[in-house]
Amino acid sequence: MYQIYPRSFADSNGDAMGDLPGVVGRLDYLADLGVDVVWLSPVYRSPMDDNGYDISDYEDVDPLFGRLADLDALIARLHQRGMKLVMDMVLNHTSVEHPWFRESRNPASPKRDWYYWRPARHRTLAGTPGAEPTNWASFFGGRAWAYDPTSGEYYLHLYTPGQPDLNWENPDVRQALFAMMRRWVERGVDGFRFDCINLISKTLPLADGPAGPDGLCHDAGVVADGPRFQEFVREMNQSVGLSERDLLAVGEMVLVDVPKARVYTNPDNRELGLAITFEHLELDHDPNGPKWSLKPYRLVDLKRVLAAWQNGLAGVGWNCLYLENHDQPRSVSRFGDDSPQFRALSAKTLATTLHMLQGTPFIYQGEEIGMTNAGFTSLEQYKDIESQNYAREALAAGTSESDVLAALAAKSRDNARTPMSWDASPFAGFSPVTPWLEVNANHTEINVAAALADQDSVYYHYRQLIALRHELPVVTTGKFTLLLPDDDRIFAYLRSTDEVQLLVVANWSSMPAEWPAGLPDVSTATLLLNTHSEATGGLAAWESRVYRLGANDRPDL
Ligand code: GLC
Repeated sequence: MYQIYPRSFADSNGDAMGDLPGVVGRLDYLADLGVDVVWLSPVYRSPMDDNGYDISDYEDVDPLFGRLADLDALIARLHQRGMKLVMDMVLNHTSVEHPWFRESRNPASPKRDWYYWRPARHRTLAGTPGAEPTNWASFFGGRAWAYDPTSGEYYLHLYTPGQPDLNWENPDVRQALFAMMRRWVERGVDGFRFDCINLISKTLPLADGPAGPDGLCHDAGVVADGPRFQEFVREMNQSVGLSERDLLAVGEMVLVDVPKARVYTNPDNRELGLAITFEHLELDHDPNGPKWSLKPYRLVDLKRVLAAWQNGLAGVGWNCLYLENHDQPRSVSRFGDDSPQFRALSAKTLATTLHMLQGTPFIYQGEEIGMTNAGFTSLEQYKDIESQNYAREALAAGTSESDVLAALAAKSRDNARTPMSWDASPFAGFSPVTPWLEVNANHTEINVAAALADQDSVYYHYRQLIALRHELPVVTTGKFTLLLPDDDRIFAYLRSTDEVQLLVVANWSSMPAEWPAGLPDVSTATLLLNTHSEATGGLAAWESRVYRLGANDRPDL
C-alpha cells in the first residue's frame, strides 16, 4: 500500500499545490516500484482547515485537486495497471462548511441532532470560561467544545473547531454516510481508509474525564471505543458491502490495544480488515509530559511492542505495517540515522525490518527514497494547524522558542508533508512555482531522479522487498518469532511455515556489531537480500539481511 498525500505529491497546473492529474502522471513510477494499492488522502471539497480532513462535500473533488473526471481517470488508470485505489474516508466529523452542519446550526432543524450540540454545564453562564459541557481537550489544542452564541449551545469537535463531530447515534446520519460510500464503490474505488474510526461511538451521556494539570481531560480513552462502536461498524460493513464485495477496510484507530484490534479485524466479525495502530509510535513520547515532549525510544521496547502486535493478531486479524505517514515525522530521521553516511543504509534497514513482518506494509510517499525530516528552523515555515496550535500554546505557557522549534523539528506533521522530491531542480520537480510548503533543502541530493539512477539506492531496496513479498508466501503467512528480545541494537526474527523459514537480522545502530550469539546457524542458508554487498562474519552499521534457512539449520521452535 502506497500512501499519497495529494497536496504534496505532484503539481500539474502550477498552482503550488499537488493535484490529481499530477498523481495520474506518476503512476508508472508507482507501478515500477511494485505498488498494489494506492491510499489517497482526502481530495474532497474542503475549506482545508486540516488539509482536507475537514470535508464539506463527500461527493465532489476540491477544485484545488482537480475535478471528479480526474478522479475517474485515476481509478481507470490504476485499474489498467492492476492497482487498486483506497479513498480516505473521514466519518467522525465533517467540516463546519458542510451543508449538514450549516443546517444543524439551526436548533429547529432536523439536522440539529446530526452533531453533538449541548447546553452549557449546569449552573454556569454559557460562553464563559469553564461553561463547556465537558472538560474534554481537543486533540489539536484547546477545548473540544465551540460555543455558538446564536443558539447559546456548544458543539463538540475532537479535532479543530472546523471539524464538528457527527452524531452516529442518529440513524439518519449513518444512512447518509453509508449511501455516500456506496456511491464511491459504484464509482470504482476498491476500499476505504477510515479516519480515526474508533471515535464514532461515544459513551453517553457525555461526561467529564480525568483532568490533567490544565483542568482538561486529555485521555483519548474517554472518547474512543464507545459502546456502540462495533455495532456501527458492522452496520456500515453490511450496508456498504465491505466484506461482501471484498473491499479493503483499513481502520485508523486511536489508542487501540491488541485485544480490541483482534476483534475489530477478525474477518468473522465483518467489521474492519486492517488496523492502523499507534503503540509503536508512542515510544519516543513521555505520556506524562506535555504534547510532543521528547524522549529517546529504546529498541527493546519497539521490538516488544511490534512483536506483541505480530503475535496478538496472528491467525485472526491483520496489521498495517508502517513507520511513517502524513501525521508522523520521517522514519529515517526518527528511528534511523539521517546523517549523510548512514541515511540510505538506515532507511533500507528500517524497511527490511518492517516489510518482512506479517501484515500489509504501507509506504508513505518519499519514504521509498529515504526522505528526511523537513529541517525547518523558524516558526513561519510550519503550515500545519496542529503544529501552529502547539507552538502558540507552548509559547504562551512559557516554553522557550528554541524548545518549541526543537519539538516541531522532531514531531511536526509538516516533516512528512514537504513536497515530494522528484529531482534536484529549485522546486524539486514538484511544481513550477514556489510550493505551498517549502521543499526539503536536501532535495538536491535526495530525490527520485537520483534514486532511479543509482542501483544501490533506497528505492531499489524497496523494490526488492516488495518483490520478495510477492514471491514468497512465507512473508504473508509465516509464523513470527522474535529473537534476541533483550538486545538493544539487533532486531532479529524468524518467519516460518512448515516448508520455509526466513531469518531477518538487522543492526539498528550506527556502530558495527559482532554476529550475535543465539541466532540460528546460517552457514548453509541462502542470502536473499542484503543492504551491504559483502556479507561478513559480523554486521556493519545499519546492515540488514534476509536469509532462507537451509533444511538443517532450522531451529526447532
Ligand atoms: C487522522 C488523520 C489526520 C487528521 C485527523 C482528523 O488522524 O490522519 O491527518 O488530522 O484524523 O481528521
